[in-house]
Amino acid sequence: MDEPFSGHATVMVPLLRRCLKSKIRNSSELEGCSAQRTQLTNLITRVVQFGESDSALICGPPGSGKTKLVSTVLKELQGKHDFFLVKLNGLIHTDDNLALKEIVQTLNADESIVEEASGSFAGNLTAILETLINDSSTVDRPIVFILEEFQLFCSHRKQTLLYTLMDASQSTKVPVCVIGVTSCFEVTQLLEKRVKSRFSHNQIFLYPPNDFNSRLELFKHFVTFKDEDVDVDVDDLSISPGVYSFLWHEEVQKVIDNPKVIEVLKRQFGVDKNEQTFRNTMLMVISEIDLERNQFLSADLIIRIFNDTFRDFTVFALRGLSVLELCLVIAMNHQTNQYDDEPFNFGMVYRRYQKFTNECSVLVQSSRAVLLKAFQKLINLELISPVNIHSKEVLKDFNLYRFNVTNEQVQEAVKNFPDLMPAIKEWATSVC
Ligand SMILES: Nc1ncnc2c1ncn2[C@@H]1O[C@H](COP(=O)(O)OP(=O)(O)OP(=O)(O)O)[C@@H](O)[C@H]1O
Ligand SMILES: [Mg+2]
Repeated sequence: MDEPFSGHATVMVPLLRRCLKSKIRNSSELEGCSAQRTQLTNLITRVVQFGESDSALICGPPGSGKTKLVSTVLKELQGKHDFFLVKLNGLIHTDDNLALKEIVQTLNADESIVEEASGSFAGNLTAILETLINDSSTVDRPIVFILEEFQLFCSHRKQTLLYTLMDASQSTKVPVCVIGVTSCFEVTQLLEKRVKSRFSHNQIFLYPPNDFNSRLELFKHFVTFKDEDVDVDVDDLSISPGVYSFLWHEEVQKVIDNPKVIEVLKRQFGVDKNEQTFRNTMLMVISEIDLERNQFLSADLIIRIFNDTFRDFTVFALRGLSVLELCLVIAMNHQTNQYDDEPFNFGMVYRRYQKFTNECSVLVQSSRAVLLKAFQKLINLELISPVNIHSKEVLKDFNLYRFNVTNEQVQEAVKNFPDLMPAIKEWATSVC
């Protein structure tokens, strides 16, 4: 590197790293999900404006934007209405007393009320709410409860917290809004009868983005910059900042045009749609750019970091299966591909396996009992999960299961599976 450029890079690289990192850390505005946003806004508005207490559940896989949706809606409403906001998290408030402490602190309630009350959780919370009703400064001020990791509150003893909050959302004079946030779609099945009957059954569903192009756009956004984004004192540089910017973007274009980069990005997106994971990985990429090693973004750097940090544990798990278990996985893959990800039961998979072994003369057919054992192992590895979590009463054969593996993962595992019979490989890649 010639002298003038080297001096230039010494100034530019740290500044650029700071600029790109802050771009990656600062989450963007809520995009899409306008129907869900309107639904939640209307629901909370009814509580905080008209005093109509209500409850709702927001369900969606990790990273689908549940927290983002709630925080965006609350931020908007906090500017317009006056209400208490109590945030509880199932991972932090692991028992009702911890939750009560948080409620007392947020509502600025007098701790002596809790001491004087009956001692039971329900009694304490009711006492707090009654004090708020009688307190002239807070009279009729609505309370919005946000319960993150809602499913964890279901394992609290007797679900007292949930019961008391749901009951309050129906009976107290203070308008109360209870919003549960969870990644567990079947969470209502975990609710006790008395809680369920008090829950409004409003449910808002969020789904992860399915469009790789928007992820690619985000990638481009993270690695490009405008000259004015980088706060550089031109006097520090021996040449114009535009030169570095020009060279940087030239390299970025090469990276974006590289099919191997697109492949690693696609693979990560295929398995983990969580934008946060992507942001974290991009932070690592940008941190690796320094004067000694990579002054510019390079395809090798991206591929190395993504491959190092993003190991597909499902593929590892698949490669560790026995041939019989893998055959079941292939049967499940065909079943879900053919029926658009619909859940299946053991019988359906068993029939596909039987059909394959009948046609394939080199493979000995295992008994139903052995296959059931293999099926159970796949459940234990969480490669499949029951649709109905309270399914004890249903015969095991007829329970419905969801396949947690993508077709790409199956193909990758089959490709690298040690000493796999060609007939099985062929079956895995065939289209049913
Ligand atoms: N619709 C969206 N618009 C803008 N950013 C989004 C959207 N959905 C997700 N994100 C981004 O993805 C990341 C994860 O979102 P968020 O934390 O809201 O997901 P979550 O569903 O609450 O996940 P978890 O179940 O792990 O709590 C955040 O950085 C957020 O900014
Ligand atoms: Mg969240």
